[in-house]
Amino acid sequence: MLVEAADKPTLYRDLASALEGLVSGEPDPIANMANASALIFESLPDVNWVGFYRNVGDELVLGPFQGRPACIRIAFGSGVCGTAAETRQVQRVEDVNAFPGHIACDSASNSEIVLPLIRSGELIGVLDIDSPNRGRFDEEDEAGLRKIAEILSRVL
Ligand code: SME
Repeated sequence: MLVEAADKPTLYRDLASALEGLVSGEPDPIANMANASALIFESLPDVNWVGFYRNVGDELVLGPFQGRPACIRIAFGSGVCGTAAETRQVQRVEDVNAFPGHIACDSASNSEIVLPLIRSGELIGVLDIDSPNRGRFDEEDEAGLRKIAEILSRVL
């Protein structure tokens, strides 16, 4: 499955409905993370890494992803993912090289967005998307991905 669209709002609307279809009725979180990372990776242009870090005992541990092998464990507060986990705020970073403590898993990555996944007040993990393009993620991407994160929070 691959979603293609002329403009970002349409792309994210179609992506959200494709994701709903992929995860509906499936209770297994690993399967849902695996399919979600593949769907997002195939559908968004100019991304080189899409995946999950799970909250395991207040440490982020690598989950299903698409892209190059990545660092396995990230402490809360460390790098972009750890900051998203600690603050529970979306981190949209135009230039990762300017982000204090950024963890460079793939030197090709230049911008990044990380969305916390929260259900019933609990941090389940984060969704991390990297791009080789500086400033790849704008406000429309963030709005669309917040909806994707909402869907994921319900099924992970
Ligand atoms: N760059 C991230 C680490 C994860 S990888 O990009 C897959 C960070 O600083 O949290």
